[in-house]
Amino acid sequence: MRTIIEPFRIKSVEPLPRLTVEQRRRRIAEAGYNPFRLHADEVLIDLLTDSGTCAMSTRQWAAMMQADESYAGSASFFRFEAAVRRLFGHRHVIPAHQGRAAERLLCQAVLHAGDVVPGNTHFDTTRANIEASGAIALDLPVASAADPSSDEPFKGNIDLPALAKALDRLGDRVPFVLITVTNNSAGGQPVSLANLRAARDLCDARRVPLLLDAARFAENAWLIKLREPDHRDESALDIARQMFALSDGALMSMKKDGLANMGGVVSLDSDAWAERVRNLLILTEGFPTYGGLAGRDLEALAVGLEEVLDEEYLRYRIASTAYLGEHLAAAGVPVVRPFGGHAVYLDGRAFCSHLRDEELPGWSLSVALYAELGIRACEVGNVMKGRHNPATGEWHWPALDLVRLAIPRRVYTQSHIDYVVEGIVELFARRHEIEGLRFVHRPAVLPHFTAVLARRDAAMPADDALVAARELAPVG
Ligand code: F0G
Repeated sequence: MRTIIEPFRIKSVEPLPRLTVEQRRRRIAEAGYNPFRLHADEVLIDLLTDSGTCAMSTRQWAAMMQADESYAGSASFFRFEAAVRRLFGHRHVIPAHQGRAAERLLCQAVLHAGDVVPGNTHFDTTRANIEASGAIALDLPVASAADPSSDEPFKGNIDLPALAKALDRLGDRVPFVLITVTNNSAGGQPVSLANLRAARDLCDARRVPLLLDAARFAENAWLIKLREPDHRDESALDIARQMFALSDGALMSMKKDGLANMGGVVSLDSDAWAERVRNLLILTEGFPTYGGLAGRDLEALAVGLEEVLDEEYLRYRIASTAYLGEHLAAAGVPVVRPFGGHAVYLDGRAFCSHLRDEELPGWSLSVALYAELGIRACEVGNVMKGRHNPATGEWHWPALDLVRLAIPRRVYTQSHIDYVVEGIVELFARRHEIEGLRFVHRPAVLPHFTAVLARRDAAMPADDALVAARELAPVG
């Protein structure tokens, strides 16, 4: 059979909110043209993120009922620890409430001012946590990562010659190298086992630990199976274990491939680092056997880690992402190729070629997706990654201005995705109607979460009045 079906049936359903185009246009203006500021019940299809948005299985719900909520030494923690260790294989398993908490713990425990952390491309919260420790986050993606039309299979790889050079130049200013699988900020592209192995060799030669940001390790493992011929006949579990075996530790936001709504972990071989992380954990997250999570969360995660490596699930997951991408590409919509694991990325600059960088083409497209179609997506481009020099007034724009259509796990069916395809193809046909935007308020840190924007050409007072119509409480 050519049809790859959803490998589940649906037991519990939620209605989708239906607003008219006029209502949505007004809502997004009131939200300061920032999709993060919308209320979720104003969104028809929510592709803002695949993080914490998955649907859980009956096994997970059942496990949650059996959770042990003891403060110290709960049985749920030991099930969680065993599930993580079975895969990751490191000595210390330290739960945290989500990925950025794990990042903060590790960065504060290990980094010093002036240190440098090379990686393939750090996710924005990872970069922010590295920088908050006074260290420098150094992105070393392969060149093809910046070419949306390149069909190279492993555009998530780290640039090995650049890594070797950085390690030689920086010496002991590099406390660890962090490779993100899949490379979310560079189009959700996978990292090959060959690349990980070579990075490991470079690190070994200089005695630098190699860590993984493993938020989407299972999707990365499946893409290795599909694209790296040496591993075609291996199971997803086997491949995932090989990935982790090449690392000295891992951080993971378990809101993605943990198949649960909350959770994170720091997994480490180093006793000294683990002790420092645990001490910080107690200060702000909780006792080391719950780390800011309920026993219920730990149970859901333990089961999720098993389910995410189910090959029927992974086959469907990766095929459904590709289905969205292939149908958009076939209609001429500019998308990043090849399709990664969790999302399809629209090329904002190519889609809105009538807009200049200052008019924020990707962000403007994300606003149009909501207003015209009810689809909420996330810009990963000029707003999220643009840098402003207040002294000169100059902007530095990122290599790619993308709009990410992230697909929540096990949530939407094929007809939802068909709606998304049809809507975007229709919007593409009248793309010149998409108006540019400008900043009204741009926060210094992670600006995309709370920025307020206005129509490029709109008179300031009218926009300000609309923005004022809804209380713009800080969100993030
Ligand atoms: N690392 C990667 C690769 C991520 O994609 C994320 C989150 C994090 C770390 C931080 O984890 O959200 O649990 O604190 N990515 C989400 C996204 C927010 O939409 O891609 P967190």
